[in-house]
Amino acid sequence: MIKCRVSSEMKSNNRMQVLITGGSSGIGLELAKQFAVDGYEILLVASNEERLLRAKKMLTHQYSVPVSTYTFDLAKQGMAERLYEAVKADGHVIDVLVNNAGIGTIGATEEIPLVKDEALMMLNMMAPVVLTKLFLREMYGRKTGRILNVCSTGAYQPGPYTATYYASKSFLLSYTKAVRFESKQHGVSVCALCPGTTDTGFFTRADSKTPKGAMSAEKVASYAYKHFMRGKAEIIPGLSFRLMKLCPVSIKTAVVAWVKRPKSS
Ligand SMILES: NC(=O)c1ccc[n+]([C@@H]2O[C@H](COP(=O)([O-])OP(=O)(O)OC[C@H]3O[C@@H](n4cnc5c(N)ncnc54)[C@H](OP(=O)(O)O)[C@@H]3O)[C@@H](O)[C@H]2O)c1
Repeated sequence: MIKCRVSSEMKSNNRMQVLITGGSSGIGLELAKQFAVDGYEILLVASNEERLLRAKKMLTHQYSVPVSTYTFDLAKQGMAERLYEAVKADGHVIDVLVNNAGIGTIGATEEIPLVKDEALMMLNMMAPVVLTKLFLREMYGRKTGRILNVCSTGAYQPGPYTATYYASKSFLLSYTKAVRFESKQHGVSVCALCPGTTDTGFFTRADSKTPKGAMSAEKVASYAYKHFMRGKAEIIPGLSFRLMKLCPVSIKTAVVAWVKRPKSS
């Protein structure tokens, strides 16, 4: 069993509660471990129940924290609202929301089926907007709360041959910065996490291979957690990815096109 850090934010009687979408694997699961070390009650959301239950078992066993799972396909219309209702019906008060679930698509724009783009946009943009809006209202009422929206370094540029994905992350980053501005006066901290390539199941899901130089999800999560808790606006784990942000957009765009262009094009 892993020993818990004592969180300065821990409520006197109850545990703080964190809801993490896409918490069954990759960056989301590593973030869940960081919260667990601080003794948070964890609520995990994903579309696959089996993977969720596996994550729950591991967290409960290793960190001795309460874990609940919510099986929802957030790429489907109305599911984010239903998730919110289910969490409320179970009597949870969410102190921290992590909008992490996301998928990518790779290929020539005209070749990618529209249904895939639609699912990506629902999951990467609509679900975080719905959940931010609903939980923000409650957090404003309590004058406290934190929201972490997982964007990407792809948010800083266009992404040829992965156009919808990069655009969705640009949307989420811009949205996050705007809501952060509004939320300050209500005592709520809204932050953006912009990881570079990270070694998770993300690329396999997009029918691709994890690029060389990818960071481990564990390193991404521990860096992100520390800076999120300090209220940093934009968090980019990894010095090389922070430096890459300074590179001219035209060059980065050409590099992405070169890397992602299908072999046949
Ligand atoms: N890996 C990278 O290089 C990288 C870089 C920058 C940003 N990011 C971002 O980081 C976030 C996490 O990605 P990851 O790399 O950790 O990938 P991952 O290991 O594939 O994890 C994705 C998580 O999202 C869940 N998910 C996928 N589709 C879902 C749906 N329709 N409804 C609900 N949950 C769903 C997955 O569980 P189920 O499949 O069971 O639903 C899983 O828990 C994403 O927003 C991604 O865009 C990743």
